[in-house]
Amino acid sequence: MTGSRIIGWGSYLPEKVVTNDELAESLDTSDEWIRERTGIRERHVGGSTGDMSIRAGRLALEQCGLTGEDIDLVIVATSTPDQLMPGTSAVVHDALGIRGGACDMQAVCSGFMYALTAANGFIATGLDRVLVIGADSLSTYVDWDDRNTAILFGDGAGAAVIERADDQTLLAFDLGADGSSRHIGFTDHGGYINMDGKEVFRTAVRAASKSAKKALAAANMTIDDIDWMVPHQANVRIIESIAKHIGLPMEKAIVTIGETANNSAATIPVALDTAVGDDRIKPGDVLLMNGFGFGMTWASAIIRWQPPT
Ligand code: COA
Repeated sequence: MTGSRIIGWGSYLPEKVVTNDELAESLDTSDEWIRERTGIRERHVGGSTGDMSIRAGRLALEQCGLTGEDIDLVIVATSTPDQLMPGTSAVVHDALGIRGGACDMQAVCSGFMYALTAANGFIATGLDRVLVIGADSLSTYVDWDDRNTAILFGDGAGAAVIERADDQTLLAFDLGADGSSRHIGFTDHGGYINMDGKEVFRTAVRAASKSAKKALAAANMTIDDIDWMVPHQANVRIIESIAKHIGLPMEKAIVTIGETANNSAATIPVALDTAVGDDRIKPGDVLLMNGFGFGMTWASAIIRWQPPT
């Protein structure tokens, strides 16, 4: 069985920051309410999905000393492509000079996790290196007059280079979906993000907790084996609730939502890059990556963090 490991990583957030106080100037809300109910202090907005993908992808390549010439496939996970067609991966392919193929993946906020798992599968079938990018520009699809959604979302991109390896560092994964729940969160062509927040909250906690437990069982591990949970950043209360359901102390959860808000497919690679960058995540650590998104979709992966030395 062929293994794979993450050898490069990087992320990008647009420069423009919108604080809760700025939102409260035009919406019937407050910094206090948003912090208490979501954990969000501010969000980065602006920049196209393609541009953010290129920036994050370039950083991930530089981080491991590679160029696009070394990459067999780029997968961009996004639900906010700049054009209906071609995929955002085409823009990235061109800008980074990717030698191999290019495709997009659409699983909303679970997209990066689906793409990461797919990259491992592509490597098992013969590829050497896959660049996986999660990127979304949700600010384009937010009704800034709707306090139910405007407070929650932001823009950003995160990337990882996955390489064939002798050891398997993707110890286990779980992918799932319930398409019959697609009505609780959706965006029509030309429309805004539409969401039943309470129902999304409930479904997300239930699905993501179950998924994390399934991945742990598949890896033959318990929650005590996990050094860090790298969760999707949708609401800090969702992260707390999932942590409680699976028995993980909150000190072991990487929380970046205060600064990023929910930038969909980007949240997990951005959180990973942040926690590796500030030396919380160290070589040998076992990570539980855990995400969910509209669809509803969900995904978990147990990964041994083993970058090249
Ligand atoms: N500012 C101030 N008050 C607000 C508000 C805002 N932005 N949004 C809602 N309220 C009010 C409501 O009108 C309600 O008032 P009422 O009690 O007088 O009726 C009260 O605050 C509580 O609203 P409620 O909807 O029960 O809040 P909540 O605790 O469920 O939080 C969300 C709302 C949207 C933050 C929360 O449900 C959530 O995060 N859901 C998940 C959304 C998500 O993650 N989507 C992406 C999935 S990938």
